[in-house]
Amino acid sequence: MSNSNIYHEMIIDYSRNPINFGTLVKPDIFMHDSNPLCGDSIDLYMNVNNEQSISEVKFNGKGCAICIACTSVLTEMTKGKKIDDVIKINKTDVLSELGLQKLNPVRIKCALLSLKILKFSIYSYLSDKMKTEDTKSEKLVKLKEDASHLY
Ligand code: FES
Repeated sequence: MSNSNIYHEMIIDYSRNPINFGTLVKPDIFMHDSNPLCGDSIDLYMNVNNEQSISEVKFNGKGCAICIACTSVLTEMTKGKKIDDVIKINKTDVLSELGLQKLNPVRIKCALLSLKILKFSIYSYLSDKMKTEDTKSEKLVKLKEDASHLY
């Protein structure tokens, strides 16, 4: 089987059997967003432990096969990682897991919707935790920049 067929199978499999699909009650981090082109939407839930790692992550909502597959992959990349490492996950990390480096501009929004939600939700979480004067910290400014310019 060629690499592109393997990736295609992976996307179909993830979309039919999403990983980390569900919700968390009273999560430390929650955010919802949608793809304006199709109306599909994703809710992302995360809990954070004392070591500032993502102890639990779930997602809910609806999207195309690429959207659900990329969200599954992203949640797997996120679980158990320190927040400082999670915020470094970039679009190439997600797209290359599923062989999606050459998506057109419409499909790229499907693939990266959940990464955008992840980055904005952690930005919001860290901003709330920090004192007002720290919200312009280099780390937060970069995180917001990353989230705003994903696609
Ligand atoms: Fe809606 Fe892809 S078509 S997220």
